[in-house]
Amino acid sequence: MEMPRRALLKVIVLGDSGVGKTSLMNQYVYKKFSQQYKATIGADFVTKEVQIDDKLVTLQIWDTAGQERFQSLGSAFYRGADCCVLVYDVNIQKSFEILNNWHKEFVKQADPVDPEAFPFILFGNKIDVDGGSSRVVSEKTAREWCASRGDIPYFETSAKEGYNVHEAFLCVAKMALAGE
Ligand code: GTP
Ligand code: MG
Repeated sequence: MEMPRRALLKVIVLGDSGVGKTSLMNQYVYKKFSQQYKATIGADFVTKEVQIDDKLVTLQIWDTAGQERFQSLGSAFYRGADCCVLVYDVNIQKSFEILNNWHKEFVKQADPVDPEAFPFILFGNKIDVDGGSSRVVSEKTAREWCASRGDIPYFETSAKEGYNVHEAFLCVAKMALAGE
């Protein structure tokens, strides 16, 4: 009998400070959410096993600091990534506009063989806030940005409610595996 193939996949999560990167990972891996904000310093990873078809995949998810003064990771850190998750807060315009910078910075640092084909994915987080009434970036606008970047998959999430978090990370796992 053939043993399931194993794979270790490196995922990097990027986005402005406070958009909910750490919260999304905590919800996904530990099913926990905290209202309290504690800025990530540098970077740290968690692992999560995911079954995809006949493969047991280990996602190594790297949570990074959005605050500029804590960013000093260097290109060695980004290299070998199998997927890059970009996160913005649907209630904060700047967190969306700055996605271009995060995208560009990742391509520069990770230096993938074919940047056009590299698996990026976008999460629009905090859709629960004020029942959606304080939202400033529409789903349409986000999807247009994704389309202009070579059809990046897009998920709207709430780390607080746990909404769409599993679905979004499952897509991450599938993309990372496909590109491996
Ligand atoms: P840095 O580590 O500084 O880069 O920030 P981060 O992107 O990791 O953000 P973090 O996960 O620490 O969340 C920032 C704040 O937003 C915290 O107070 C969280 O409780 C809150 N938060 C995160 N996700 C959500 C969400 O989906 N909904 C709501 N209402 N609040 C959220
Ligand atoms: Mg953080």
